[in-house]
Amino acid sequence: MDQFAEQLIHGRTHISPKRLGDPGPSPAQKETILLAANAAPDHGRMVPWRFIEIQESSRPALGEVFHQCLLDRDQGATEIQQQEARDKASRGPLLLLAIANYRDANDDISKQEKLVSLGCAIQNILLSAYAFGFGSGLSSGRALQSDRIRTLFQLTKDEEPICFITIGTVLKNKPGRIRPSLSEYHFIF
Ligand SMILES: Cc1cc2nc3c(=O)[nH]c(=O)nc-3n(C[C@H](O)[C@H](O)[C@H](O)COP(=O)(O)O)c2cc1C
Repeated sequence: MDQFAEQLIHGRTHISPKRLGDPGPSPAQKETILLAANAAPDHGRMVPWRFIEIQESSRPALGEVFHQCLLDRDQGATEIQQQEARDKASRGPLLLLAIANYRDANDDISKQEKLVSLGCAIQNILLSAYAFGFGSGLSSGRALQSDRIRTLFQLTKDEEPICFITIGTVLKNKPGRIRPSLSEYHFIF
């Protein structure tokens, strides 16, 4: 395999959003990164996903949703825990919410296929960001299942928020995980 492709695929590792700082992608880099998503396999060309960029001015509103979601599940959360929940929204210069869209259901293209398409679009975004020298991390968490998130981002009934994508400059890094061996996932029939 071409060395660049090899390095791109195997060099990317998950970086915790708290280790991603400024600078983030420039507007032109951001456009290239987002355009990588549209090269994802997409059965029926339904574009069954979208990405919402949460700009700086919207971070406090997201932080408040994280905070309220914490209180929903733990009334006794300490002040520190509450502040940590709010702070999660302010991490990383570029923050995207990846959303699956299951609209126009038909018998030929399942929800699972649409989710796979989103996964591919996400990976394209991560690899494109990595090719520019940025780190990235995915994060989910219980708040994503809450109506508070749906309300904040005005999601339609066909949409499901899947995960956040944070992109920025790697401030600090930990060694990547040991990847699974081929025998764990390759089987001959
Ligand atoms: C949909 C999705 C959601 C994820 N959410 C989290 C998360 O909430 N917290 C976290 O530490 N990692 C999260 N990850 C990242 C995985 O932990 C990470 O990809 C895994 O450890 C493998 O590491 P690698 O990406 O460096 O190969 C998520 C990954 C996916 C695919």
